[in-house]
Amino acid sequence: MSEFSYSISVMKRKGIILAGGNGSRLAPITKSVSKQLLPIYDKPMIYYPLTTLMLAGIKDILIITNERDNQNFINLLGDGSSLGISINYAVQSRPEGIAQAFLIGEAFINDDPVVLVLGDNLFHGYELIAKIKQALNVTNGATIFGYPVSDPERYGVVDFDSNRKVLSIQEKPLHPKSRYAITGLYFFDSSVVKKAHLVSPSTRGELEVTDIHNMYLNEGSLNVELFGRGMTWLDTGTFDSLNDASSYIRTLENRQSLKVGCPEEVAWRQGWIDSNDLKLLAKPLINSGYGNYLLNLLEK
Ligand code: DAU
Repeated sequence: MSEFSYSISVMKRKGIILAGGNGSRLAPITKSVSKQLLPIYDKPMIYYPLTTLMLAGIKDILIITNERDNQNFINLLGDGSSLGISINYAVQSRPEGIAQAFLIGEAFINDDPVVLVLGDNLFHGYELIAKIKQALNVTNGATIFGYPVSDPERYGVVDFDSNRKVLSIQEKPLHPKSRYAITGLYFFDSSVVKKAHLVSPSTRGELEVTDIHNMYLNEGSLNVELFGRGMTWLDTGTFDSLNDASSYIRTLENRQSLKVGCPEEVAWRQGWIDSNDLKLLAKPLINSGYGNYLLNLLEK
């Protein structure tokens, strides 16, 4: 068994990647291509959140895209069978809020627990798998993650009392009560669908995921885990953050000769595809060097 193989207990958990939106903060780059298909160094952005779900042992995945780019995501990832997983696709016609993912994905979720990851969020680090395992053990309620940032006003922010008890989560507060931003990785039980139906549009006209967090909080079933120094969390929705993320991945990969966010590698390590399958995946990727990386895994 590989170190990643703990998927059996979570077979029924579903995963959603929210990869819609207009990418307006990246215009004109996003005028003809979806943000989540843009490169972060050597692979499309969506490979990173996809790999995060795969590391959580999740094999049943729904990708929500905007209408224009839906076919491009299908061209990239197909039905997931080459990675030993199942990928379905749905369209969000307008970016009306993150909580809408649970309305669009209602039939897909079908009373199972679900993990939502935002298509522009990149997680990497020592603690990630341990924290994911912890979240998978929680069967009722929600687990979300706080991460210390220098600009919390750009995010959902958690407010604690002096005993670290969570008091509230506020979306983009003018005066943040802590420096802990809520990351775009959310573990919810199946009641999330019912909760999403109760959310009304905010003043910025969106169905806010923060309202869902606060519903769990009011029920006493919101678990906020904090990521520490050993973790990297980047969102990649602006010119600078896109460039920073690429530089980060480039530095790390070149130093370690290990790829970050490589779904073919994770599928193989999870035992979802065998070495022959990996060779087949590598073949068309030889010219870029990506394929050689996959073939080298077989020799190590
Ligand atoms: O990145 C973490 C933050 O993400 C959280 O701290 C906030 O609580 C949460 O509201 C969200 O804030 P953002 O303002 O960063 O969300 P943004 O509108 O940039 O959307 C995040 C991703 O989700 C982006 O890749 C586009 C996609 N998206 C967003 C919305 C609102 C959709 O696909 N559809 C949507 O309707």
